Amino acid sequence: KKILIINGPNLNLLGKREPDIYGNRSFIDYLKTVEQQFPDVQLHYFQSNHEGELIDKIHELGFTIDGIVINAGAYTHTSIALADALSAVTAPAVEVHISNVHARESYRHHSYLSAKCKGVIVGLGLMGYELAIRYLLSQQ
Ligand code: DQA
Repeated sequence: KKILIINGPNLNLLGKREPDIYGNRSFIDYLKTVEQQFPDVQLHYFQSNHEGELIDKIHELGFTIDGIVINAGAYTHTSIALADALSAVTAPAVEVHISNVHARESYRHHSYLSAKCKGVIVGLGLMGYELAIRYLLSQQ
């Protein structure tokens, strides 16, 4: 099984960035524990601060893998292009947000991606990623 984890802008700073909201663990550190939990899964991890690069990665892997876990950061709230990319490919996607976006500023309440995803996990911290993977694997 192959799963793509995509993190969008500013998520490379996890651990350093607003730790009261996003925690103090780096994603690379967390990813090691995810790899241990799913030893039989080929996990592809991609982070970019550039919208087009996120789209390119979805195009590159989205027809051959078993699922996409996507946290598009602030592009969640702005990007019709990313939503179109998720529609274009065949892999099912789950949207994840570390923080509870509904308890934050109103501009974080709307997502262009949610309608293109099987479901959405928000506010459960980094655990949201492993829960999303668990769901995608259960669907195969
Ligand atoms: C986020 C929530 C977004 O509103 C924000 O722009 C982020 C991170 C989250 O994981 O909680 O960059 O996607």
